[in-house]
Amino acid sequence: MILKHANRLIFLVPSLLLLGSLAAVTSAGCGSNTSWIFDADGHSTQTLSTRTFLVHVPAKYEWNTTRPHPVVLSFHGYGENDEVQERISGFSKEGNLIDGRGIIAVYPLAEYGPGKNERPARAWIGAPYSPQDVDDIGFVEAILDALQTNLCVDSNRTYVSGMSNGGGFVNLLACSPEVASKFAAFAIVSGALYNGTLPFNGCDPGRKIPLINFHGTADTIIPYDGRNITNTSDDTPPIPRWREAWVVRNGCDASTPSNISRPYEGVIETIWQCNNDTETTVKAFEIEHGIHKWPSMTETTFDATPDQILPFFNPYSLNSTV
Ligand SMILES: *[C@@H]1O[C@H](CO)[C@@H](O)[C@H](O)[C@H]1NC(C)=O
Ligand SMILES: *[C@@H]1O[C@H](CO)[C@@H](O)[C@H](O)[C@H]1NC(C)=O
Ligand SMILES: *[C@@H]1O[C@H](CO)[C@@H](O)[C@H](O)[C@H]1NC(C)=O
Ligand SMILES: *[C@@H]1O[C@H](CO)[C@@H](O)[C@H](O)[C@H]1NC(C)=O
Ligand SMILES: *[C@@H]1O[C@H](CO)[C@@H](O)[C@H](O)[C@H]1NC(C)=O
Ligand SMILES: *[C@@H]1O[C@H](CO)[C@@H](O)[C@H](O)[C@H]1NC(C)=O
Ligand SMILES: *[C@@H]1O[C@H](CO)[C@@H](O)[C@H](O)[C@H]1NC(C)=O
Ligand SMILES: *[C@@H]1O[C@H](CO)[C@@H](O)[C@H](O)[C@H]1NC(C)=O
Repeated sequence: MILKHANRLIFLVPSLLLLGSLAAVTSAGCGSNTSWIFDADGHSTQTLSTRTFLVHVPAKYEWNTTRPHPVVLSFHGYGENDEVQERISGFSKEGNLIDGRGIIAVYPLAEYGPGKNERPARAWIGAPYSPQDVDDIGFVEAILDALQTNLCVDSNRTYVSGMSNGGGFVNLLACSPEVASKFAAFAIVSGALYNGTLPFNGCDPGRKIPLINFHGTADTIIPYDGRNITNTSDDTPPIPRWREAWVVRNGCDASTPSNISRPYEGVIETIWQCNNDTETTVKAFEIEHGIHKWPSMTETTFDATPDQILPFFNPYSLNSTV
């Protein structure tokens, strides 16, 4: 025992010196090997009770590292799964960094809901086709705890993202104070912002939510201009109105964006910053002719994850006051 502690001490001293300026938070999983089994590509599927999630560690992750790694959770769309979300989002790709460190990318798997047209399909809560009586928010909290126990995680640099129904679920997470407080920044792609994800009423994040959003104007699944035919939980809001609601909740003036530009052909970027904040609060991309997809070089002239989402996440940490 004494020897073991002595060893720890020797390794801790230099690493603390190294990390001094990063102010990273070490989790319980730092400094000892994980009992999770990973394949040669750095993948592991973990089970918590009846639920599973796919984890990918960066190529240079050292099993006994004392250097905390940033985490990105990414939620799949309706009827999709964890592996599809890994492929379309690209968070596991080598070379992706936040704060100069490799990312632990996590892709949770949804439960089956009743689906559309009586065909059961996997879905996150908050949509008309979602499963009832499933505690997806509790699942997310359990995932975060398991990551901190089993891997070396920077809990002040945990981020969340999602596609379509997964994006709607990210909105629900951002509106739920007990879990919103655990993420440094949020990304919603082609969000399915049904009433159950609290796009307007009932959203009480308890903090400012740094949000980056992408939505195509030719999206036929979740229309950019909203769908308000039935005036029921099947409706989805006009995307600009939903974005502006976040700007206002963040304490900013939605009517005066800080900057509107065309960073890529056919893409309009709108940035809102609060009056005296240096950091952006909401950044939105309107993709002309864009369809219901995670923007990548196959559909657009930019790759959303490395070109926009990771640089957006980078300045945000829960220990900063932005
Ligand atoms: C640490 O854990 C990883 C993942 O389970 C395993 O591949 C590796 O062999 C372990 N290393 C040691 C030194 O036990
Ligand atoms: C991690 O394990 C390797 C080999 O098992 C060892 O050489 C290294 O010193 C260990 N590092 C820490 C921080 O414990
Ligand atoms: C839509 O629903 C709201 C409240 O649920 C109600 O106030 C409003 O009148 C409804 N609009 C239409 C067109 O039915
Ligand atoms: C939308 O959600 C809010 C908040 O949960 C609720 O008060 C309202 O009745 C819902 N409206 C519809 C049309 O479902
Ligand atoms: C749908 O239209 C009604 C008024 O007809 C409005 O009260 C409601 O907020 C709209 N719903 C959405 C999601 O925009
Ligand atoms: C507006 O944003 C674009 C793209 O990010 C940038 O090139 C430009 O410098 C910005 N303009 C201002 C005034 O901040
Ligand atoms: C910005 O900060 C200055 C100095 O702290 C303060 O006087 C001013 O009222 C603030 N402006 C706004 C719009 O909040
Ligand atoms: C992490 O963030 C929390 C919440 O803002 C803060 O209280 C804490 O000091 C931060 N920890 C470090 C080591 O930066």
